[in-house]
Amino acid sequence: MSWISVSDFQHPNGWRNSRSSAERAQWYCQQLEQGQILFFSTLPFALPEGQQEFLRSQHQVASQKQKNISYRPAVDKLRGVRQTSSAELSRFQEIMREYSRQVTQFLTEFLTPYTKHWTVDLASLRLLEEEGRDLPLHQRNDLLHVDAFPTRPTQGGRILRVFTNINLDRPRVWNTTDRFEALAQRFAHAAGLPQLAVQESSLVRKFRRQVNRLASAMGTRTVNRSPYDHFMLRFHNYLKESTNFQRECAKICLAFPPQATWIVFTDAVPHAVLSGQFALEQTYIVPLKALLLPDQAPIRILERLCGRRLS
Ligand SMILES: [Fe+2]
Repeated sequence: MSWISVSDFQHPNGWRNSRSSAERAQWYCQQLEQGQILFFSTLPFALPEGQQEFLRSQHQVASQKQKNISYRPAVDKLRGVRQTSSAELSRFQEIMREYSRQVTQFLTEFLTPYTKHWTVDLASLRLLEEEGRDLPLHQRNDLLHVDAFPTRPTQGGRILRVFTNINLDRPRVWNTTDRFEALAQRFAHAAGLPQLAVQESSLVRKFRRQVNRLASAMGTRTVNRSPYDHFMLRFHNYLKESTNFQRECAKICLAFPPQATWIVFTDAVPHAVLSGQFALEQTYIVPLKALLLPDQAPIRILERLCGRRLS
């Protein structure tokens, strides 16, 4: 398996004007939830070349904590940009704001079932060459992993990401392997699922939720991680730490050409970025209630494996 090419996008009428666009949106959502990657060979939203050129000319702060330049649409805030003039900064912010808006508008039509309940999370600009990047083990992009956010737990919601390669002439190269369910069946036990499932009795869960409610009522910022979020962080790290898995698992190499856009649930599709420079990405958190196939969500797969609730 490689990806599903959304080729009808190039049809003069495209998917937008199709009479069955609601059915198509459902079909694409189901494909994504089953671990497919949706691929567009050309940009499915507006991002003029002048804006792409501006983004390629930018620089990010040299920091291992800040892997990319990030843009938070909810508060219109850009992070990780190396100091520049206020005019440049303001143009940068304007372009990222517009990029985020355009992608979201496109997905609102393309993946309609999600839009009522999703959270528009961070967007990012990935300026650095991925090949040979010097990062701590758990932050390395070139090792196969599924995504989990240390500071933004999803409580079982899924991580949907839209990537666009804005490199002028080089592909962005990924490796992928078996999907989450197969990996969980093989490795979840060793990665600590049974211990986490036991630790969280219903009494503990009730107490944790009360503490979180109290903290949020008091305006305190806490990282409210469910057992699911704890496990997904462990699993992310476990896969990166496992030299056997990294070396021996079956791999499929995908080369995303310049101007390609691809959409994927990165919490269930393992990925490693082998090479490539200049990419844009926008993340959405899709809660369980918005999914068409909630039983395929990693939280439900893990709950079946351990026989307990993890929310
Ligand atoms: Fe990732």
